[in-house]
Amino acid sequence: MILVVGATGAQGGSVARRLLADGKPVRLLSRHTSSPAARALASRGAEVAEGDLADTGSLVRALRGCQGVFGMTSFCEHFGTELTHGKNLVDAALEARVEHLVLSTLPSSISLSSGALSVAHYESKAEIERYARAVRAPASFVHASFYFENFLSTFLKRAPDGNGLAFGFPQGNQPLASFGVEDFGAVVALVFEQRSRFMGEVVPVVAEYLRAEEYAAIITRVTGRDVRYSHVPESAYAALPIPNAALIAASFELTRRYAPFEMKHRAATRALHPAILGFESWVQERLARFQAFE
Ligand SMILES: NC(=O)c1ccc[n+]([C@@H]2O[C@H](COP(=O)([O-])OP(=O)(O)OC[C@H]3O[C@@H](n4cnc5c(N)ncnc54)[C@H](OP(=O)(O)O)[C@@H]3O)[C@@H](O)[C@H]2O)c1
Repeated sequence: MILVVGATGAQGGSVARRLLADGKPVRLLSRHTSSPAARALASRGAEVAEGDLADTGSLVRALRGCQGVFGMTSFCEHFGTELTHGKNLVDAALEARVEHLVLSTLPSSISLSSGALSVAHYESKAEIERYARAVRAPASFVHASFYFENFLSTFLKRAPDGNGLAFGFPQGNQPLASFGVEDFGAVVALVFEQRSRFMGEVVPVVAEYLRAEEYAAIITRVTGRDVRYSHVPESAYAALPIPNAALIAASFELTRRYAPFEMKHRAATRALHPAILGFESWVQERLARFQAFE
């Protein structure tokens, strides 16, 4: 039995769906056990456990009888509490004697930039990773790059001149690592399957390593819609009246200047999961949504 945290969301949802498709017993953890997402997974055979990362007791109860746990934490919902949530999960897994934790974490922005940058949601995830190692939890760490889904959910807009579509962020001309979220579950399932190979290891998830203009060109080629990218300086992006603007801007500043993910990570991900979807195929699968995008 594997407990999946965040199964009603993007990363955990892909993990739960993949494990269930592989015939593995899954229990999902949710604060809202009657939500449509929780019910959809229950109808595919998942057990449902009510619990909250803020409540270690609820985690220990949910982990009873589980050999593995997939853990993610949400910075944008909980901000400074993310670290406590991650530590709670690690503590609960140790108490429940879980054999393998697969945690969604990220590298330290301070280490990557030799102290020049500190990006809050990278630091709290890096700190969770450090904590899991310090208490000798039997853990592997999966590092998610930028979701392809962010183009549709957050960045793509109608071009200001009304002709075609546009997106802009502080990535300049540097390559941006990315992947489609549904492949996250496939990678995590492989990490659970190959426990001894990945014990204590970091597993980055990268399907593409392209410049923003190349992402734009692919969308244009596949959909026939004109898509343009423009660099937006970090300070200008941080001042935009959108949720978490400063955080998103800082995150791009890190990916632009210090490349937390590189081409070698794309090669490693593809070696582990050769069927991972490339960006072109991902756009093709969403052709109707891109064509109808307003
Ligand atoms: N967007 C990107 O490109 C990207 C890239 C790398 C990493 N990340 C990181 O990914 C994380 C978000 O993951 P996601 O996209 O999968 O999130 P998501 O789709 O927003 O889902 C959030 C999930 O977290 C669960 N959750 C939130 N607070 C909880 C709590 N207190 N106790 C138990 N469960 C809780 C929710 O479950 P219930 O509501 O059912 O309880 C839900 O399933 C963020 O920390 C972000 O920094 C994002």
